Amino acid sequence: MLILSCSSKLRLLEGTLWRGLPDILLVSGTVITINWGKPAAQEVLVDSWPKFKVILTQMCRKVSLDDSDLYTNTYTVYYRDLGASRALLASACAVNWGQTFRILGLQDGVYEVCKDIAKAKGIKLEVLRYFTYFHPDPSSTPEIWLDPAMKLSSLDVSHADLLNETWVFGGNEKSRKYLANLICHFPSVCLLDAAWHPVSWITSYPFGAMGLFYTLPQHWQCGYMGMLNNLLIKRLHTLGYPSYGCVAVENYPMQRLQEKQGFQRQPNLWYVILHNPALGKVPMLTPRPAPGTAPA
Ligand SMILES: CC(C)(COP(=O)(O)OP(=O)(O)OC[C@H]1O[C@@H](n2cnc3c(N)ncnc32)[C@H](O)[C@@H]1OP(=O)(O)O)[C@@H](O)C(=O)NCCC(=O)NCCS
Repeated sequence: MLILSCSSKLRLLEGTLWRGLPDILLVSGTVITINWGKPAAQEVLVDSWPKFKVILTQMCRKVSLDDSDLYTNTYTVYYRDLGASRALLASACAVNWGQTFRILGLQDGVYEVCKDIAKAKGIKLEVLRYFTYFHPDPSSTPEIWLDPAMKLSSLDVSHADLLNETWVFGGNEKSRKYLANLICHFPSVCLLDAAWHPVSWITSYPFGAMGLFYTLPQHWQCGYMGMLNNLLIKRLHTLGYPSYGCVAVENYPMQRLQEKQGFQRQPNLWYVILHNPALGKVPMLTPRPAPGTAPA
């Protein structure tokens, strides 16, 4: 196992990964973020170099100090050889199975392998499956229309509480901190009303995907999300990211929106494999309270 820390190797890897889209989206997005230098807190592990059979990205161990932080302790995996992925994921040097974490992958084998390893270790995992959406040609998205009643902006750290109340995985202090970090370090877009309150927003993740799509219910179907989606695709494309994201299998409005805007649903599902021993205690994976009504 090798940690790729040399910038020339990481640049070379980025070029190689582009040729493997879309299976490799999550890993390539993370490598682009590292090469972009934003923030340099993630690392890339491979089984061998330059002919790798598996790639794993993770937060640097020295940054991820909180063993119970499901949000920061995020891995992304891509494999060409299932056996190699099994060996790397099982290695204590690669994955800290004692931590709370999430592993993201776009290949069925990632979940199969994690399930086997967890069973052998007597660990219980949760898995969430999403549709993966990829835009093959972000430069072709239409011109941006802006409602004159709204101001276009980026998210600000003062909006972290609102995002935390409305995010399906939010509602706790660790998620609030994670969201504040995303807002500070990664591209985001939002629309503000006349009182400068956000009404619709999207941010992006350290692995380059677009996410946290949200419009306050009183502003649904005014075209706001479509407009912001268009804008963020263009921004991420300019920064060199592939345009992609995930949508829950039951979320037809968002699926329709993505398809209307030229995103293509991929044959691969998007797996979020959670090891969260506190799942029963932490307020997550439960319906969120309406915005503004969460307990302080
Ligand atoms: C999904 C959501 C983001 C849409 O935001 P929005 O600002 O209302 O979206 P827009 O007005 O820009 O809609 C654009 C397109 O999306 C689709 N769409 C939006 N709401 C829809 C609905 N309720 N039913 C069907 N299609 C819908 C349509 O294709 C629509 O275009 P059309 O009206 O011309 O057909 C919003 O409903 C929301 O925040 N929901 C809760 C959070 C959520 O599910 N986020 C997505 C997580 S992946």
